[in-house]
Amino acid sequence: MAVLNVNIDHVATIRQARLADEPDPVWAAVQCELAGANGITVHLREDRRHINDRDVRLLKETVASKLNLEMSMSEQIVRIAEQVRPDQVTLVPERRQELTTEGGLDCVGTKRRLAEVVRRLHRKGIIVSAFIVADPEQIVAAADAGCDAVELHTGGYATAKGQKAIRRQLDALVRGRDVAVSKGLVVHAGHGLTYRNIGPVAAIDGLCEFNIGHSIVARAVIVGMYQATREMIALIEKYSRTGKAL
Ligand code: PXP
Repeated sequence: MAVLNVNIDHVATIRQARLADEPDPVWAAVQCELAGANGITVHLREDRRHINDRDVRLLKETVASKLNLEMSMSEQIVRIAEQVRPDQVTLVPERRQELTTEGGLDCVGTKRRLAEVVRRLHRKGIIVSAFIVADPEQIVAAADAGCDAVELHTGGYATAKGQKAIRRQLDALVRGRDVAVSKGLVVHAGHGLTYRNIGPVAAIDGLCEFNIGHSIVARAVIVGMYQATREMIALIEKYSRTGKAL
């Protein structure tokens, strides 16, 4: 059954809206963990628009479950990861102007750098995942570069309109899973997943970990982080058990 990592970037986004010291993502992480989250995900962006270096340092000290650091392969950020040593790194592409991560990492085009970064992170005992679209070529390149896992981009599924288009996206995720498993990779998934659309993805066997942020933090504003996390875990468990897709 898949487990949930809560991405708490947007707790920091609220803090940064006033350049204040609250809400603290460290408080949020505690609530997520108490509610049963498998892990905490944060994206240390090069522009530090939400999560900052202090957050990552403190979360490394306080997260008792799993700290998953999303990051680009820029040299400055790779050095921080080597120092902080999160449990897991998820490598993502990053562009300054984007609202959120767009597209997956180009593992084919960045193969050399990717292999070097993976080697360096492995030397520090860090699990390495690559966030990619469910394209067999990209999955194979991630495996060849030494990644332990891939996070399949569910953004295409989340924005697909109509049953046929949604079905196509789900089929692509299933094919991606099969290629990844055949290459010995652990399979994660994330991006754009919500309380309304998680069902069919949670019903796909073999997806081990979901990274979900915006939808949980949005609900947490109304019901609290603890309850929002519990509700998402309950849905993942329900659909994993029934295996009911569309
Ligand atoms: N996975 C990755 C690699 C991401 O970059 C993000 C966004 O930060 C997420 C998952 C979570 O996406 P969302 O906020 O849409 O749930």
